[in-house]
Amino acid sequence: QTGTILVDKNVNKEETYSQAVEILKDGGIVAFPTETVYGLGADATNPDAVAKIFEAKGRPADNPLIVHVDSKNSALQYAEELSPLDLQCMDAFWPGALTLIVKAKPDQFADNVTAGLSTVGIRVPDHPVALNLLKRLPFPLAAPSANTSGKPSPTLAEHVYHDMKGKIPLILDGGATAIGLESTVLDMTSEPPVILRPGRISQEQIENVIGKVRLSSEIQGNAPKSPGMKYIHYAPEAPVYLIENDPALIEKAIQHVQKDGKKVAILSEHEFKTADFHFPLTAETLYASLRKCDLMDADMILAAVSANVEKGDAMMNRLEKAADHKWFC
Ligand code: TXA
Ligand code: MG
Repeated sequence: QTGTILVDKNVNKEETYSQAVEILKDGGIVAFPTETVYGLGADATNPDAVAKIFEAKGRPADNPLIVHVDSKNSALQYAEELSPLDLQCMDAFWPGALTLIVKAKPDQFADNVTAGLSTVGIRVPDHPVALNLLKRLPFPLAAPSANTSGKPSPTLAEHVYHDMKGKIPLILDGGATAIGLESTVLDMTSEPPVILRPGRISQEQIENVIGKVRLSSEIQGNAPKSPGMKYIHYAPEAPVYLIENDPALIEKAIQHVQKDGKKVAILSEHEFKTADFHFPLTAETLYASLRKCDLMDADMILAAVSANVEKGDAMMNRLEKAADHKWFC
């Protein structure tokens, strides 16, 4: 395996695309930008190519991958038993940050893409580089987020480079991703459909198009239907704690941690001058901020949030996982 090549920003060179296409047709893997986070792509019909994704990420084999296609028409080739609601979602939100879990047509993908499930997660990314790449390929791209399993997803090509250098041959650098959190995952095989992973496209937006949908977090007693949900996620090296966004409480917490000689990083909207490090906390910057905490060797990370945030908020969902639901008190 050659060293990773980080391509210049904007990916506007014809040569870059032909290089990516050549690697992918040869059964190799390439990282590329989408509007949500960077993906690590392989030919979804080639089990050996797909296996390289699992290896590079250190991803458990029972966690299925999202299949990326260039259009609704392409998606129709790979899914079956689609309902009017499926088609309405595709028309309303594609290209865009909505992954639909639908019944997979048999023998269209390598088995390791779907981890043996009869369903497949599929989406059309809303990013010129991703679409340009997909349009040049005769197959769909299986692509999880391009991070090491368990780490925050990459929102910059540099993040991918950090996790994947020496493991993959090429990263297409499209600059910072616009949304910064992964797509909303909507299970269309349940009645009513269920949001397995919240994202920028909200429950309300979806309900405006197809009527009632539920949040998986509100369905009690169900085993997690999205296999990826049971694993550790988005976790930097230092422990993350949620803390109510109250300046006096946060100042006290900072002093308490520093008293033990520890370096504390605050993720918050407003700056705290007494903290060792401060990084912004927005959906777009969350993952970059968590990665910066690692680079600074912070001993503890406090994320200032409101406990009353709306159910199904995508950033809160990621933060709760990063913190393993721990609150500082
Ligand atoms: O925004 C995104 O979705 C990014 C970009 C690259 O497209 N991709 C991404 O992929 O976040 P990944 O693999 O990191 O997350 C895919 C999620 C996992 O939680 C997985 O368990 C779930 O989707 N998933 C995939 N196929 C599924 C299926 N057939 N049934 C239920 N959940 C599925
Ligand atoms: Mg991921």
